[in-house]
Amino acid sequence: MYVCLCKGITDSQLRAAIKDGGSEFKRLKKELAVGTQCGKCVPVAMSILAEETAKN
Ligand code: FES
Repeated sequence: MYVCLCKGITDSQLRAAIKDGGSEFKRLKKELAVGTQCGKCVPVAMSILAEETAKN
């Protein structure tokens, strides 16, 4: 499913980037450009980040 419509980023892409060491939102923002346009996806992206980091 799409998390960020502005940049066309899916939850799978986000989860893959987090698994690749992107445990900071700042880094995900830089790598994928998630949340860099309207910012509406930030809360969802943050909750996916929290979910994935809690698994590790
Ligand atoms: Fe992600 Fe707009 S939906 S920046």
